[in-house]
Amino acid sequence: MGSSSPSSSSSNYCYYFYRLPLLLALVLSFAGNCNGGKTSSFVRKVEKAIDMPLDSDVFRVPPGYNAPQQVHITQGSLNGGAMTISWVTQDERGSSKVLYGTSEHNLEFSAEGRVTNYTYYNYTSGFIHHCTLRRLKHNVKYYYEVGIDHSPRRFWFITPPQVGPDVPYTFGLIGDLGQSYDSNSTLTHYENNPIKGQTVLFVGDLSYADNYPNHDNERWDTWGRFVERSTAYQPWIWTAGNHELDFAPEIGETKPFKPYRHRYHVPYKASGSTSPFWYSIRRASAHIIVLASYSAYGKYTPQYKWLEAELPKVNRTETPWLIVLLHSPWYNSYNYHYMEGESMRVMFESWFVKYKVDVVFAGHVHAYERSERISNIAYNIVNGECMPTPDQSAPVYITIGDGGNLEGLATNMTEPQPSYSAYREASFGHATFDIKNRTHAYYSWHRNQDGYAVEADSMWFYNRFCHAIDESAKYYS
Ligand SMILES: [Fe+2]
Repeated sequence: MGSSSPSSSSSNYCYYFYRLPLLLALVLSFAGNCNGGKTSSFVRKVEKAIDMPLDSDVFRVPPGYNAPQQVHITQGSLNGGAMTISWVTQDERGSSKVLYGTSEHNLEFSAEGRVTNYTYYNYTSGFIHHCTLRRLKHNVKYYYEVGIDHSPRRFWFITPPQVGPDVPYTFGLIGDLGQSYDSNSTLTHYENNPIKGQTVLFVGDLSYADNYPNHDNERWDTWGRFVERSTAYQPWIWTAGNHELDFAPEIGETKPFKPYRHRYHVPYKASGSTSPFWYSIRRASAHIIVLASYSAYGKYTPQYKWLEAELPKVNRTETPWLIVLLHSPWYNSYNYHYMEGESMRVMFESWFVKYKVDVVFAGHVHAYERSERISNIAYNIVNGECMPTPDQSAPVYITIGDGGNLEGLATNMTEPQPSYSAYREASFGHATFDIKNRTHAYYSWHRNQDGYAVEADSMWFYNRFCHAIDESAKYYS
């Protein structure tokens, strides 16, 4: 026994020594659970994001005289029974007519669009056509043709199912895309994601043309040609970001949003909005509200009044999923654009809690972050209660400004990670929000470095109106 004691003691020592990392991991994991937050250990190789050169194949001008280019489509009505088709002709005005039909061999319908153009400093745009196809059948594949007078090009899209509470539908989430090699990787990953997004919810900052001298609007054109491989076939729902402002009084350009407004039309009037920068649509089982971070939203402003009237109108028994898109995030634990969304949060956050918004997607910060369900609405100037607190009636806030533009990644984070931040990572990527029925939606984020099917972050969403079970329980179970 005597001789075995040292050995036994040594063995105990080894036992604890070898299990120390495990114990430490357990302690850290417990601490992590208390914070509820995770900063990903994935470290992306630091490389400068570089814009693709003008002669890149993705910017190729389609062949043929006056061939339509930069084709993109978006929902053209409140409930998805219309689609707006947009394209640019460069050589001459050409026809604004769209031929369309449900058979590839018989485009039996036609609609007449409108054309616009604009000048920006020393740039003159091509002819920008917008044509809305109305009274479309639901859940049907339509073929359409543009450029019918000179060099016709044919595309297709699938209309959404009729609005209803249990209609499954899959949205893609992309933000701050730009036109770098990383942007191309993001778009390719989105296209090849086996989850198969049916409509992109785009959270602002499209081309980054304003980073070029005199906001070189040729880069608006190249961006339109780059994304055409997706935007011509499925609708992208547009949100305006700061890179859409193109406000440059030093070169005489004093009308904000001039290029964006001419190029990207949205169905704002259908939701009673007076401006294309804030509006709503209903698609499948989702009611989607788009807000404008760069238009006035103080009390009595048009946007404030519109949102105040809009939220009570959302019919959760028809569209249980209430999704908000905006550009500048309200909750952001990176050092970039820190608190830029704060004044809008102060104005609208209590409404989001009252009306139980499921999720808010934002961009602007070039990284990824997902929050817990939290709110910060108790503060009344004098009570000192100015910390976000768990709130199961509050939305999850997701920053998805990681499309890959030339400005590069936001890598500096505030430390320690705030408890409201559930997951954050400085990588480029995209996300999908896959609605299953009125109660469940599966959300996943995909980083560009992984295979197309890999989910770097994911979460089951339980609908706040139909199935508001406590999601925080999983962090402590
Ligand atoms: Fe931005």
